[in-house]
Amino acid sequence: MTKRQLALIKVMVFCACLGPLVWATIRAFGIASTSLGANPVEELLHSMGKTGLNMLLITLAVTPVRQLTGFNTLIRLRRMLGQFSFFYVVLHFFVYALLDLRLAWNTLAVDITQRPYITVGMLALVALIPLSITSTNAMQRRLGRKWKRLHQLIYPIAVLGAVHLYWQSKGELSAALTYAFAVAVLLGYRLVHAAELRSRRNTRRPELSPSR
Ligand code: HEM
Repeated sequence: MTKRQLALIKVMVFCACLGPLVWATIRAFGIASTSLGANPVEELLHSMGKTGLNMLLITLAVTPVRQLTGFNTLIRLRRMLGQFSFFYVVLHFFVYALLDLRLAWNTLAVDITQRPYITVGMLALVALIPLSITSTNAMQRRLGRKWKRLHQLIYPIAVLGAVHLYWQSKGELSAALTYAFAVAVLLGYRLVHAAELRSRRNTRRPELSPSR
């Protein structure tokens, strides 16, 4: 793939990732007879939260899909997808803090400490911050091996995201269970793949060691 083609793909993915925000803005301003419905703040909160979680799962799916299909270009898009996931989760948080709670910091503090689904959501958001900050080439070089270990935080974050969704679903479990299943499949794939690599390395090691 040429540099130009890659740049074009990146621009297309970037525009697609902005889609949910553009659509929410169109609905918020009632353009072309659209609307956010009877409860606009709740609708906005839910749509930003769902987009954040979807982007998180898409980011996690990049490596397995690349390994299974051989479409290596995908890896060049992973960072952007991860950053968009963080972006939407931050918007989700701001919709809650600014539009829903109207910056009532005491209420936010009570929610974070006393409503388990908010506690879990906040933990996931805070854990995403170092991943977002260190997702540049320079930081990857600087952190070396530690970078990979740090970015493995994405798995517990995805679990927290699924638990957050489950805890606030109020009896409507189908979406929460679908997300939980998707997270389990992606994590399961990673664990099986890591075990395979380890066993391949172990079987190769005796051949490499010098014969006595
Ligand atoms: C990685 C972090 C997070 C993810 C992936 C996430 C995702 C979601 C999703 C998917 C929903 C459900 C949307 C729906 O049912 O349509 C949701 C709901 C919600 N989230 Fe989050 N969220 C995160 C963090 C947070 C944080 C930090 C807060 C607030 C401090 C928060 C507050 C809420 C609230 C208030 C709801 C709505 C609950 C209700 O309708 O009763 N979330 N979130």
